[in-house]
Amino acid sequence: MNVSFTYSSGLLRRYLAPLWRPALLMSALLLVAIAIELIGPQIMRSFIDTAERGGPASALANAALLFIAAALVGQAVRIGAAYMSEIVGWAATNRLRGDLLRHVLGLDLSFHKQHPPGALIERIDGDVTALANFFSQFVVALLGNLLLLIGVLALLWREDWRAGLGVSIYALVTLAALNTVQRVGSARWQAALQSEADLGGFLEERLRATEDIRANGAELHILRQLDTLLTSQLAVLLRAFLARTYIFITSQALFAVGFASGLALGAWLYTQGQATIGTAFLITVYVGLLARPLEGIRNQAEDMQQASAGLARVAALLGTQPVIREQPSAELPSGPLNVTFAGVTFSYGDELPAGGSQADPTTQPDHVLQDIAFDLPAGHTLGVLGRTGSGKTTLIRLLLRLYDPGAGGIRLGGHNLRDLALSDVRRRVGVVTQDVQIFGASARENITLFDRQIDDAAIWRVLEALGLRELIERLPQGLDTRLGSGGVGLSAGQAQLLACARVFLRDPGLIILDEASSRLDPASEALLERAIDRLLAGRSAVIIAHRLATLRRADSILVLDHGRVAEFGPRATLAADPHSRFAELIRLGEDASTYR
Ligand SMILES: Nc1ncnc2c1ncn2[C@@H]1O[C@H](COP(=O)(O)OP(=O)(O)OP(=O)(O)O)[C@@H](O)[C@H]1O
Ligand SMILES: [Mg+2]
Repeated sequence: MNVSFTYSSGLLRRYLAPLWRPALLMSALLLVAIAIELIGPQIMRSFIDTAERGGPASALANAALLFIAAALVGQAVRIGAAYMSEIVGWAATNRLRGDLLRHVLGLDLSFHKQHPPGALIERIDGDVTALANFFSQFVVALLGNLLLLIGVLALLWREDWRAGLGVSIYALVTLAALNTVQRVGSARWQAALQSEADLGGFLEERLRATEDIRANGAELHILRQLDTLLTSQLAVLLRAFLARTYIFITSQALFAVGFASGLALGAWLYTQGQATIGTAFLITVYVGLLARPLEGIRNQAEDMQQASAGLARVAALLGTQPVIREQPSAELPSGPLNVTFAGVTFSYGDELPAGGSQADPTTQPDHVLQDIAFDLPAGHTLGVLGRTGSGKTTLIRLLLRLYDPGAGGIRLGGHNLRDLALSDVRRRVGVVTQDVQIFGASARENITLFDRQIDDAAIWRVLEALGLRELIERLPQGLDTRLGSGGVGLSAGQAQLLACARVFLRDPGLIILDEASSRLDPASEALLERAIDRLLAGRSAVIIAHRLATLRRADSILVLDHGRVAEFGPRATLAADPHSRFAELIRLGEDASTYR
């Protein structure tokens, strides 16, 4: 990750520049708050010295009122500064969050295979939140603390050079000492955070697999793993908490020493007749005031390291370019689309950007797809068969340009796939995948994929056309029924039916159907058959079929075997040829995915 500092700071500037007005206001408020904080002890000194002299009561009352007013105004101004800083912090980072999310969604599938969602969430949310804290608290806190420190020291120097010098040395020593203990603590703390992330990852993965774990009776194993994990985490957490305690004790001791020295210095100056009792008090209060900025500055130095590490990671992510480049020079025609594969060869891993961890070509495993060639005229349906792992889903990914082939070319609607805009391809090609993603949202949103422009009438027209009206009407709240997590669960077949409606709504020119390999119940199966028939009418289609029934509507058949075309031809011809694999499959009448 060689992200230059200039890039990171450029990023900062890009997101902060539009917010200069609130940032300016924030700084001004902060300055006022600190000035008021420094004035407080001065008022108290005058109060004490006046009382000592036996001055008029009205002067005392005025000093007291002034002190109270200053304290109130100081608090109000501080709140204002904190408010402005939150605005600056969140306004800047929310835009960054949005940009990051859009960027990541636009990256290739190969990128996403390498970066699990958990890690990306950490980038988009964790790192950016650290940045938000940095903007909103750090700037205010560090700036404020620095100014307070400088202010206290300057006022002490002005009061008495010995007080100024002594306290300045004390401040430096304390900062250095705090920094040293902090460094030990921070390493242990990082280890604790990492172990928490590990635990989170473990739990997420296991909870996701609850169904499989239960079904296979693996609960005990999982619990044992958890036990081991927790035991090792306990040790790490204990060390971290101990370190935190050391730091706390050290800083408290240092501040106590400082306060005592301030008190002694004040007392000495007073007994020497070099200062009034008010001044002695002032010195003590100022030294006491130092504890906060000293500790704050030390904390913020650590925050700054974290924020800059986060910023570097965010910058690296934003700098990642998709491998699949768009140079659209053509547009897909309307109506059904034809498809041509010519000598297409592909392996996963080929698509890694140059300079990445590319496998040694001599040790590279067989291609996932090799020399695939076929032709699908517009309006026709191609049935693709092949054992599990033979490359069927991969073929479809290439057709959608989720990956680019290593060799050969793909034409869609008469154009080279590389000459088309990705958005054009994905709008005009409708896909029903092997495992349809159902979102935790209403049935309506699941069908429209959150497009609010589509009204209910259009949805019902589609459901009617696909024969799915009843499916939705049977749901407890119809289109408003919440599906997915926390809602009504759908079977694999029902999910595919819903996906058919999704695709139909977009009126694509090519349908890709990667059939669920799980068996469907007869009712869903009948519904799906009807829906697919309606869906395919007047369109081209590539169907990966696991059921023979689905293949009846194919005009031609492609049989894949270990990534190669084992058989390709018109369905009727293959069915009539007693030696063809397809004919054998029909004779056996088996599940299409388990032939031979
Ligand atoms: N994202 C991926 N990264 C690396 N290898 C992959 C990836 N997806 C699939 N493969 C490999 O590519 C080969 C073909 O997989 P593919 O998913 O295309 O098979 P399939 O014919 O669709 O199988 P199924 O009938 O089980 O759906 C397999 O050997 C698989 O291990
Ligand atoms: Mg597949």
